[in-house]
Amino acid sequence: MRRFPLSTSTDPEPRSLADLETPCALVDLDRLAANLDRMASYTVLHGLALRPHVKTHKSPRIAAQQMGLGAVGLSCATPRELEVMSEVSRDLLLAYPLLGAPRLSRVLALPDEVRLTVALDSMIAIDQLAHTARAVDRPVDVYIEVDVGMRRVGVQSADEALALAMHVQSKPPLRFAGLTFYPGHIREPVQQQEANLGQLRSRLRGLLDRFQAAGVEVRAVSGGSTPAAWRMHEIGGVTEVRPGTYVYNDRTTAALGACGWEDCALTVLGTVVSTAVSGQAVVDTGSKALGREPMRGAEGEGFGALLDRPDVVVQRMSEEHGILDLSRTDWRPSVGDQVRIVPNHVCIVVHLNDTIYGVRDTQVETSWPVSARGREGVRGGRG
Ligand SMILES: Cc1ncc(COP(=O)(O)O)c(C=O)c1O
Repeated sequence: MRRFPLSTSTDPEPRSLADLETPCALVDLDRLAANLDRMASYTVLHGLALRPHVKTHKSPRIAAQQMGLGAVGLSCATPRELEVMSEVSRDLLLAYPLLGAPRLSRVLALPDEVRLTVALDSMIAIDQLAHTARAVDRPVDVYIEVDVGMRRVGVQSADEALALAMHVQSKPPLRFAGLTFYPGHIREPVQQQEANLGQLRSRLRGLLDRFQAAGVEVRAVSGGSTPAAWRMHEIGGVTEVRPGTYVYNDRTTAALGACGWEDCALTVLGTVVSTAVSGQAVVDTGSKALGREPMRGAEGEGFGALLDRPDVVVQRMSEEHGILDLSRTDWRPSVGDQVRIVPNHVCIVVHLNDTIYGVRDTQVETSWPVSARGREGVRGGRG
């Protein structure tokens, strides 16, 4: 019986797109470099600390590039992201409430050299964190999360934020380090965000005034999604930003006007597998390659669009089939042709892949693992 080795490949290294088995994820290395540079330059220009969110790339290689361009540290959403990224940065933020003994003990077992900050919005989360931090004798910085309009997580008033901050201060080895917010509701084109930015400005002003009146120092104010990042310097008090999507961008980010189409660095490479039904072509990029993500807050139908023909969209999907709508184009692909699809939401696509291929034009130059995907523990802990 023929055996299939699970972890080693005897295939020669892929060189051109035609050598790659589809579906797979490609990153245009020039676009990636330009995206990394643009955000790093913006934050340097405006004196903002950059703490990029790694959930988009989940890759130490790109995190190292971000650190090399001046990031002060990294933002993570999961314990595995923290564990993988502790190899790259000694300053990690868990931008997600941390609850439950299994997660708490795992996160607090990060190497001692890591300065750990946790964002939270409840007394229960503070008490659980303080209990575990005390048990393992580890200082932990805490950001209090405030809701500035997205209505996802975050306390609703300055009084609640202050009460949580004072509770943190009463629970060493926890330390109150600042406030955090995620402006995920700001999804207008960058030049049309004025109304939402105005509300954000006065909301933060009220919060900071309340803390000042109480004599509680707010050392950091952390905010900034990709669509709102470019205007965070206009919000007094914000000290750091946490964009994630900007490294690769996607169809939604382009439709929102927070990047150009030419800034979309990640595409899913697919192969046309059928043209048997008229008016459409079927590619091998279904929902297990593209994710079933809508264009959240942005114009556009379907689940992705062709890089070189944005008017051709993936209109329907099965798990392994994507149906390209050919009704608005003269283009008629042949079975076997390759296509590159810009996904609606890139972060979901990345976590569906083990490997990313780095390309320039049609040449495959390199590849890297999506090391922080999944939930498995990376290693045993504090050293
Ligand atoms: C808490 C938090 N911070 C930062 C980000 C990064 O935002 P974006 O994906 O718009 O770059 C996210 C994204 O989900 C987030 O949830």
